[in-house]
Amino acid sequence: MGLLEGKTVVFTGAGAGIGREVVRHFVGEGARVVAVDLSPAVTGLPDELGDAVLPIVGDVSDPAVNQSAVDAAVSAWGKLDVFAGNAGVYDGAKPLEQIELDTLPAAFGELMGVNVLAPLLGVRAALPHLIASRGCVILTGSFATYHASGGGVLYTASKHAVLGLVRQLAYEFAPDVRVNGIAPGVAPTKLRGVGALGQEPADSVLDGTAAALPTQEVPALSDFNGVFTLLASDQSRAMTGTMVPVDSGLGIRGLARPGGRVGR
Ligand SMILES: NC(=O)c1ccc[n+]([C@@H]2O[C@H](COP(=O)([O-])OP(=O)(O)OC[C@H]3O[C@@H](n4cnc5c(N)ncnc54)[C@H](O)[C@@H]3O)[C@@H](O)[C@H]2O)c1
Repeated sequence: MGLLEGKTVVFTGAGAGIGREVVRHFVGEGARVVAVDLSPAVTGLPDELGDAVLPIVGDVSDPAVNQSAVDAAVSAWGKLDVFAGNAGVYDGAKPLEQIELDTLPAAFGELMGVNVLAPLLGVRAALPHLIASRGCVILTGSFATYHASGGGVLYTASKHAVLGLVRQLAYEFAPDVRVNGIAPGVAPTKLRGVGALGQEPADSVLDGTAAALPTQEVPALSDFNGVFTLLASDQSRAMTGTMVPVDSGLGIRGLARPGGRVGR
């Protein structure tokens, strides 16, 4: 029996990258998933995974999209156990000095709308059902949740805010609903940029990234499956208000060498 047998999930940002890979894994562990993404690529998931996945194409910064996703799960399967807010956009590590004053409000609104407002909307829509199921929430943070230089100021502020959501909502919902997060370091994906900054999607992995990581290798997308699954499962019943770094050791990187035994 899978770790998520019988669980029903709403998962955002499921059309590509970490989210798509985790949805595949969740289904393999016995979950049924409403998979939400702005990209129509999400509609391809049922071809691969069958009717364990219901795709929804929409913008997660729209309250109605979140309500539809929750309603779809409850009407198809009668309950909702997990809301995973994972959709995100990146600011291309743009320094404040390079953002024009007049552009800043639109760029801020766009990035915060996806990275901070959207998980809040999703959790709000899911809340009555999560209370009924004594379910849980998982939000995707980042290395930028804890550190500077994992993005520009907009992205870093947004991912710090995700930790605020995790801690405050874990408090507000206890003891009925657990709220945790996962903070990836680097993953081989192409995150969308901020339209207001004229940004195109950009590779998250740069030349030299592997050498800068204490683990000395860029993780595979599947390397995030384990922590997502743990947080969604009953095996994390004693965890709430926690953001788990999965950062290839970036948080303990050294100055002279990325890791004490690197290059020996
Ligand atoms: N890739 C990395 O190195 C890295 C590092 C730290 C944190 N993260 C976080 O991981 C999460 C997943 O990102 P990823 O790296 O898999 O990137 P990705 O771009 O492959 O996946 C993100 C998905 O979110 C979707 N999305 C973006 N805006 C949306 C919106 N408004 N409505 C609906 N869907 C939307 C995209 O279409 C995409 O399919 C993000 O929250 C990101 O900030 C990624």
